[in-house]
Amino acid sequence: MSTVWLNDRFLPAEQARVSVLDRGFLFGDGVYEVIPVYGGRPFRLQRHLRRLERSLAAVGIDNPATRDQWTARIDELVERNGGGDQGVYLQVTRGVAPRQHVPEGELEPTVLLMSNPLPPRSGIARVSAVTLPDDRWGHCDIKSIALLASVLLRIRARGEGAGEAILLRDGELTEGAASNVFTVLDGVVVTPPVSPRLLPGITREVLLELLRKAGIEAEERPVSEQELRNAREIWLTSSTQEITAVTMLDGREIGDGRPGPTCRRADELYQEYKRLQVE
Ligand SMILES: Cc1ncc(COP(=O)(O)O)c(C=O)c1O
Repeated sequence: MSTVWLNDRFLPAEQARVSVLDRGFLFGDGVYEVIPVYGGRPFRLQRHLRRLERSLAAVGIDNPATRDQWTARIDELVERNGGGDQGVYLQVTRGVAPRQHVPEGELEPTVLLMSNPLPPRSGIARVSAVTLPDDRWGHCDIKSIALLASVLLRIRARGEGAGEAILLRDGELTEGAASNVFTVLDGVVVTPPVSPRLLPGITREVLLELLRKAGIEAEERPVSEQELRNAREIWLTSSTQEITAVTMLDGREIGDGRPGPTCRRADELYQEYKRLQVE
């Protein structure tokens, strides 16, 4: 049985209870983070905590802990759950209050930390994707727990035999339902720029750094639907999936239907960087 942190203490997951009046439950009024842990060490934790601070500030919830407190709690959670490779889920909601849209008075945020083992990797994962209209809200840069639109997009993708929905808004690529998207266009790595239309992924940020350091040209600029469809390579990034090659888009093979050379190089750089973090 795994251990979770709820509000002010560690307890077994099956004993953790939240009020039905929690605004996270009633309104999806909260934000979250997912932090990968390798060899017992949280990966890029400061970046995740910085993004958490941004999300909390954007929705007007006071940060219930300092960076040091978050770090100590996450370290202890990881240890209590056996170390190794884990995905830590961190959620903060606005708290418990009578159900009305505008909360009144000072609320105590509800804090949950839990973790799951990360499955062992065996090479670059591959996925089929479908394109779908991006019908999410206008603040996709906030890591909100209100994920109904993303859930419906993933369910639709699944119904079409695909593992991810790649989203298009106004004729341009935004991101995946739960990932950022990279393309290779005319030999150059291109990913859409950070904006309210997409989550500034930590994996995306690390990978851009690693590619550029390795002398591989990587641009942040808009990608049109046509460019996406003609891309030589497409891959997805996220904290728990790392780099996943899109081998099929809307039923058409991408490249030769296997992870392309730039994707393989990107994955090598990422795996090497992970190893350095653990050692
Ligand atoms: C919508 C969306 N975009 C991008 C990402 C990737 O972000 P990160 O690399 O920080 O996990 C996620 C991760 O869950 C996501 O949900």
